[in-house]
Amino acid sequence: MTKQKTAIIIGITGQDGAYLAQVLCAKNYRVIGVARRIASYELWRLQALGLADSDDITLGELDIMDFPATLRLLREHKPDEIYNLGGVSSVASSFAQPLVVSEMIGLGTLRLLEAILASGLRPCYYQASSSEMFGHNDTRPTLNVNGQTVNEQSDFAPVSPYGTAKLYAHWLITNYREAHNLHASSAILFNHESPLRDVNFVSRKIIHGLVALSSGSQEVLTLGNIDNVRDWGFAGDYMQAAWAMLQAETADDYIIATGKPHSVRSIVEHAAAALDFDLAWEGEGANTTGIDKKSGRLLVAIDTRFYRPTEPDPLIG
Ligand code: GDD
Repeated sequence: MTKQKTAIIIGITGQDGAYLAQVLCAKNYRVIGVARRIASYELWRLQALGLADSDDITLGELDIMDFPATLRLLREHKPDEIYNLGGVSSVASSFAQPLVVSEMIGLGTLRLLEAILASGLRPCYYQASSSEMFGHNDTRPTLNVNGQTVNEQSDFAPVSPYGTAKLYAHWLITNYREAHNLHASSAILFNHESPLRDVNFVSRKIIHGLVALSSGSQEVLTLGNIDNVRDWGFAGDYMQAAWAMLQAETADDYIIATGKPHSVRSIVEHAAAALDFDLAWEGEGANTTGIDKKSGRLLVAIDTRFYRPTEPDPLIG
């Protein structure tokens, strides 16, 4: 069957890359999937979705910091759409490696945009922006006041090197849209999870840790600030939204969120109940523990090493 369109997914080996590949393959796209490394062990997510050997996907290595290689890729495949999901997705690691993270997210995006201009092509472009760009914002009411949420017009005030770099990239998209008439859209993505999430993110960390405990492991699940509140959605749905954004006649910025607040603590409670633990909390702050009332076992403890130097206010879209 003749392919409808060609799309390049930058960062195909990540959670979002795999779900986006699924969305695009179902719509009869020719998908060019690139990542900095395409080792076989990196393909587990595509394998889980039955896509690792798909004839519709061509895999390759690309680092968007490499301008000539990016330009060659664009000229070779002449994409109708480009999805930039590359770079680092861990907010925590941006405190440890601020320069690397900022260069990859900020300058990486700039290099990619410049390569698009230099190619002479005019693909529709998708940027993965982040709710971390909102950070602290004294001008918006907090969640406790009437359950207010942020929207596309809310002020930005990032509180991590990651959020700051994402904001730089976000404003680049706005500028290239206006200055160069690119069909470039930003998705301001709130937290989005799935079974394909890396175990370092809190949702999978909780599930992984509690499943191990229910199978007899003695290793206590240690977490950071469990009273942080976020807006968690399903990554597969968000990648449907990513595709839909590029089908719009004009490019724009979009909040992608559920509008529903949940604390990290409540995720622990749900996961514990699903695994038949009878969880009870004791103590406060860094001394909080979660005990299984049935067995008296210690399940959850706080480790302040997982606290971040600064954290956004509750983030609800
Ligand atoms: N990772 C982690 N580990 N987070 C913890 C822990 C822990 O042990 N304990 C508490 N948390 C809290 C974090 O402090 C944060 O408030 C919340 O759990 C979610 O953390 P993560 O799952 O690591 O995700 P994130 O919010 O930092 O970032 C994710 O969402 C952003 C969009 O809002 C990532 O997907 C980013 O790439 C994305 O931009």
